[in-house]
Amino acid sequence: MYKKDFPYFKNSNVVYLDNAATTQKPQAVIDSQVEYYEHYCANTHRSNFGDANKATQKYENARKHLRSFINASKNEEIIFTKGVTESINFIAHSFANSFDTVIISSLEHHSNIVPWHMQGRTLHKGLEVVKYTSDLDFDFENFEALLQKYPKAFVSVTHISNAFGKINDLKAIIKLAHKYEAVVLVDGAQSLAHMAIDVQALDVDFLALSAHKSFAPTGVGAVYVKEEHLNKLLPYQTGGATIDKVDFESSTLLDSPYKFEAGTQNIAGVIGFSQALSYIESVGYKQIQAYEEELYAYLDEQLHTIEEIKFYNSIQHAIGSRSFNIKGIVHDDIGILLDKMHIAVRVGHHCAQPIMKALGIKGTIRVSIAFYNDKEDIDQFITALKKAIAMLKG
Ligand code: ALA
Repeated sequence: MYKKDFPYFKNSNVVYLDNAATTQKPQAVIDSQVEYYEHYCANTHRSNFGDANKATQKYENARKHLRSFINASKNEEIIFTKGVTESINFIAHSFANSFDTVIISSLEHHSNIVPWHMQGRTLHKGLEVVKYTSDLDFDFENFEALLQKYPKAFVSVTHISNAFGKINDLKAIIKLAHKYEAVVLVDGAQSLAHMAIDVQALDVDFLALSAHKSFAPTGVGAVYVKEEHLNKLLPYQTGGATIDKVDFESSTLLDSPYKFEAGTQNIAGVIGFSQALSYIESVGYKQIQAYEEELYAYLDEQLHTIEEIKFYNSIQHAIGSRSFNIKGIVHDDIGILLDKMHIAVRVGHHCAQPIMKALGIKGTIRVSIAFYNDKEDIDQFITALKKAIAMLKG
């Protein structure tokens, strides 16, 4: 029903089921990029002529839009970045480095593991990992034990696992963490394509976002920083547009968010991000969620008709991504054959090697859906998958 809004589907015969990697972009988002480059391409926050002022206004309107979209209380709590990876690296470097202990979950993406290793933390030496239950859910008992052992920790957890689609109960995680005076960062990379996030209702301290996984351009994202932490947050990088006064002896910086946005930003990307949020608003999360849940259940039902399939979790508390293997067949081989049949899925470790290792596997076949997919996509994928299995079983 919504594919008509996305030019990719007019130009391609691919069944696109790799939405956890990146989503397709609606025409309105593409048009907003072109409009900026063709009609008012100028730098922001510097020059004072018509197009420069228009670009600045659009950029700042995008900040306001994102603020209201995630229900932050102040515009200065929204800092634009390149995406979740930069957001986590920024907060790790500029805020969390002084914490004795960082607690992450078992289902984290590498971008929420490697920055902590880069600080010299290793398992049980500054880094702790919450266990998972038999259905890959977050183990709250283990989490509380870790919080008791390491109070005032920095907790950094994903909202939705990119590899398995598991949804963490953020409200419960944050409430428990705050009981032990911990500070919480949420990796929201997979969230906005599927569900709303209200930072005040969650009482989250930091929220990292990537625009491209929710119908916006690549190379842009944001980090929400709760106001009370802004004055403790140090700039990650400095330069043009971050400063108040500079002479050869010293410099003084602007206030948030400007002191955190050094150099010329991805102006078109930020404007496109806002356009993507408008697009999501026009469809509505109620509609997106109801439809995706139906599609996800249909996908699961179809996958269960395959005898040789091996799952690692149920679809309870999960959305977006379904991961599995086919007994006796290497997932990479399935990926190659599916590609030949014009089916786009991701095979491999999905940037989540530690959980793959814990499960005793090298990777999975991951099907990830967005609300523009339909049952026909699922049917075509299942037919191709069955064909690939038959060919490989030979
Ligand atoms: N994080 C992206 C994925 O899950 C790239 O595929």
